[in-house]
Amino acid sequence: MNLELHDIQGIIARGYGKHPAAAYLLLHVAEPVAARRWLGALIDRIQTCEQRPDPAVPCFNIALTHPGLAALGLDPEALGTFPTELQEGMTEPQRSRALGDDGAAADPKGTPRHWAWGGTGHQQRPVHCLLMLFAVSPAELELAVEAMTGSLADGGLALISRLDTSLLADQAKDGGVREHFGFRDAISQPGIQGLHPQSGNLPQVPAGEFILGYTNAYGLITECPRVHRQRDPDGLLPPAEFGTHDLGRNGSYLVFRQLDQRVKAFWQFLDQASRDPDGSANPQRRLELAARLVGRWPGGAPLVESPEQDDPALATENSFSYQQSDPQGLRCPLGAHIRRSNPRDSLSPNPGSAASLAVNATHRLLRRGRTYGTPLSASFDPEEILRAADGEQRGLHFICINANITRQFEFVQRSWINNSQFNGLLDETDPLLGPRRLPSGRPTDQFTIQGCPVRQRISGLPSFVVVRGGAYFFLPGIAALRYLASLTP
Ligand code: HEM
Repeated sequence: MNLELHDIQGIIARGYGKHPAAAYLLLHVAEPVAARRWLGALIDRIQTCEQRPDPAVPCFNIALTHPGLAALGLDPEALGTFPTELQEGMTEPQRSRALGDDGAAADPKGTPRHWAWGGTGHQQRPVHCLLMLFAVSPAELELAVEAMTGSLADGGLALISRLDTSLLADQAKDGGVREHFGFRDAISQPGIQGLHPQSGNLPQVPAGEFILGYTNAYGLITECPRVHRQRDPDGLLPPAEFGTHDLGRNGSYLVFRQLDQRVKAFWQFLDQASRDPDGSANPQRRLELAARLVGRWPGGAPLVESPEQDDPALATENSFSYQQSDPQGLRCPLGAHIRRSNPRDSLSPNPGSAASLAVNATHRLLRRGRTYGTPLSASFDPEEILRAADGEQRGLHFICINANITRQFEFVQRSWINNSQFNGLLDETDPLLGPRRLPSGRPTDQFTIQGCPVRQRISGLPSFVVVRGGAYFFLPGIAALRYLASLTP
């Protein structure tokens, strides 16, 4: 089935790498009538997957929370057709616990009660809308943000927060980006059928895993939110079964988590854990340990391909599997971040087989986040980081897109990243961002490096990442946006 590219928001196709300046505006709908008018005027400027982004023009994409859809005036029956996780939101207590955000497991500062936005604190205005702006330069971005914020009051919208981003260019100057710990990021992404070429040696993923209304990895059409056909008298939405019209088609769901990174604490811990028996620092071992936590070297080379040292020739290498080349984790530890977040061919049943890859295809994430804050060292040099004063907030605006938040984002976070019994491991979670204690109080602050004849076990990992905000959004198709803008009370 051909994808209706003109109706799909552009962020699904691309991360706007040629638009390195970006900001996210979190908005609250105060006046629904004015807000719908504002939305209606914005729609023609929204970047779709059809056009190539024009560097001379800023790109806009927009997403709405469930309370945001209600605030715009979507009827209760239609609101009830959205998936439970969107209706309940990221901070529903059971979900919070599964995501590792509840007080028992997380740093108390990272609990939703203390989040800077999207949390449950009394002072917080509910987030209704996420407007994403991408521009070719900081100056162009400022102009776009100014124009946009200038339109908000008349548009019946209040600005809750402006979240700035900083795309950290890789030193290799080849268009690559780093995250704040100093590792090359945005290497491995799913290749979506009909949109992207195959990524590495992993099969392309059916479009329905990321876009509503298309066939997914189970050969089924993902459930779409619907409106009763009488509520769409002008036929703005495509007809669907049982007398409904399809509000979901060409849309998706967007997960946003603001993740503060404790960069100095990360390198301090590694510095101590890698010292020689006489107490002197061992920078080479420190770097090796850092790479083992991530599963790639800072330059990007995957450990399964290059276990002993970084290799610039492998900076974007993504054609590897685990079962074939490293079933015991002797090259890339079984609990490394990339091995947990995408186990590739190592899943049951029958690791190493096409069946294993087929299971993996049902849990893929399209990552579209960007970093924020200035790096502690411009060259990501651990020595410089260890000497620097770390007072400022910096981290990752983690954004991922998926058609089924429960089966994709929540599954990855809960069953792989936070799982203290992942892949035969015990009492450890993702070394970069997993909780360091179970809700029962049992510590999960270890990291095992499989080895022959003996494995190495590092204990006492502190939290390197603290959640500062987050929400689940619906990323509507263009026709659905027109429908929402046209609602009448
Ligand atoms: C501050 C937090 C985080 C940091 C510093 C971080 C860092 C990284 C790095 C350096 C890579 C390797 C580069 C690449 O393959 O693109 C990576 C890959 C990945 N990360 Fe994260 N990450 C963070 C949070 C998350 C979260 C919250 C999730 C999901 C819930 C996640 C899922 C993934 C996935 C799916 C991959 C690709 C793995 C693969 O396909 O091999 N990450 N991350």
